[in-house]
Amino acid sequence: MKFLFINGVNLNMTGVREKGVYGSETLDEINAQIKAHFKGDECEFFQSNIEGEICTAIQSAKADGIILNAGAFTHYSIAIRDAIASIKIPVVEVHMSNVHAREEFRHTSVLSEVCKGVVLGFGKNSYILAAESFKL
Ligand code: DQA
Repeated sequence: MKFLFINGVNLNMTGVREKGVYGSETLDEINAQIKAHFKGDECEFFQSNIEGEICTAIQSAKADGIILNAGAFTHYSIAIRDAIASIKIPVVEVHMSNVHAREEFRHTSVLSEVCKGVVLGFGKNSYILAAESFKL
């Protein structure tokens, strides 16, 4: 299978910011572990802090499944929601932290409704669990 992992705003700071929430490994280190886990599959990784670039990555995706951690964009980006709704490739929404155990503004996702499913709260393993779901 071919997976596209998309990380949005501030996810490039993983391993540096709020280590108690997101852990001390960098996004590159996490991506390397994901790649090793899915040895027999093709994994492509994209990260951007720019909302429009996330939309373009979604629109131009060539994959069997998209695993999307949109970061804070999750909570308000109608543009990313519309991009997801515009494609046929299924998207699984991911969060490393359990957003429902955090501030109330994180409890709302404008993306979930147009995603195949949501995986959250399992740290870096949220990405692997989300991609595994495409194999069921
Ligand atoms: C996050 C949760 C979001 O609320 C936050 O803005 C992030 C990361 C997560 O992976 O837990 O940047 O998506």
